[in-house]
Amino acid sequence: MAVPNPSPAAPAPNRTRRRPSWPIIGPLLLILVPIVISVVVNDLNGFDPVPLPADYSFSASLAVAERHDRILASSKRVGDGRLPGPEDLAYDKARGFLYTGCGDGWIRRVSLMDEKMEVEDWAYVGGRPLGVALGPGGDLVVAESNNGLMTVKPDQTVAMLTDEADGLRFRLTDGVDVASDGLIYFTDASYKFNLDTHILDILEGRPHGRLMSFDSSTNQTSVLVRDLYFANGVSLSPDQRSLIFCETTLRRCRRYHIQGEKRGTVDEFIQNLPGFPDNIRYDGEGHYWIALAAGKTPEWDVLLKYPFLRKLMVTIDKFVKIPYSQRDSGILKVDLDGQPLALFSDPGLTLATSGLKIGKHLWYGSLVKDYLSRIDLTQADQ
Ligand SMILES: *[C@@H]1O[C@H](CO)[C@@H](O)[C@H](O)[C@H]1NC(C)=O
Repeated sequence: MAVPNPSPAAPAPNRTRRRPSWPIIGPLLLILVPIVISVVVNDLNGFDPVPLPADYSFSASLAVAERHDRILASSKRVGDGRLPGPEDLAYDKARGFLYTGCGDGWIRRVSLMDEKMEVEDWAYVGGRPLGVALGPGGDLVVAESNNGLMTVKPDQTVAMLTDEADGLRFRLTDGVDVASDGLIYFTDASYKFNLDTHILDILEGRPHGRLMSFDSSTNQTSVLVRDLYFANGVSLSPDQRSLIFCETTLRRCRRYHIQGEKRGTVDEFIQNLPGFPDNIRYDGEGHYWIALAAGKTPEWDVLLKYPFLRKLMVTIDKFVKIPYSQRDSGILKVDLDGQPLALFSDPGLTLATSGLKIGKHLWYGSLVKDYLSRIDLTQADQ
């Protein structure tokens, strides 16, 4: 009788009193533990995000009068299954070949001369070729992301051109174009992060990119512009007096003057793009085509605005893969003065990395598809 029967109801209030704290502490630990770990892990990677430049506008997005918002419905696939990740496009008009660099290290070409549009394994360069451009002598210059700048002769022999400048090795050779005098202009998106970790370069918000030239007659690599925010596509102007280069992170493309009074200087071309620019291509008819790999979305705006959020994202990403927004990709047509003329996009379009008008078609490639796409511009709905 000394031991009283414990009331079965007694422990219950204790349990219910403790319980409310867990819904807070649980998620809090889930966030805090990775952060603490990340301080160690991220510092090993050297990932240290900073605010973007003060003049960058997170909200501004330029207006485009002509919009085609559903291009997937009217797109035709070419080379389906034969072209893994066709990133950039180079067109040999005289012979009717469209060249593209694929994710398996092959440069492939599509014959546009015959209706079947057959795909040919043309030259193996290895690694992950990105930018491709034809030189005046018929060589195809390749920005191979892992190893550097390469060239493929018409007989398919491959040669390395350059992989460093000013003592700094390239990590992500990305965009390329060749002037009519044979001088090669190209970018290294980052000397810090490679293609696999390129998202970290964008999220870090620091300028690791460079615009350079390579002179085949002297083997000289020259740095033209440094401190670029993910230096990407390059296109010579039709008069060869300047070139346009894109900076993905800052949603802009700028002009570098090759000749004239402004020689060696940079000025604005187009900014506040409605997405993150990748390759830029000139169509020979007065227009540049800028591929927007991903659209400007509210998620990206917030991420880019707050460095601590970027750090948090990268930290969580080590434990749970976070899909970064790649939707609302598109291709923007602009004139020679950088005025936007028309936007071809689709909510479901992801990582369109190049666009080029050939005849009545707009061709576009993507890092994540295994075909090229084209739309008939004469049929494109408004
Ligand atoms: C440039 O480099 C290539 C390959 O290394 C070499 O064959 C060629 O002689 C070099 N040209 C000059 C001008 O140094």
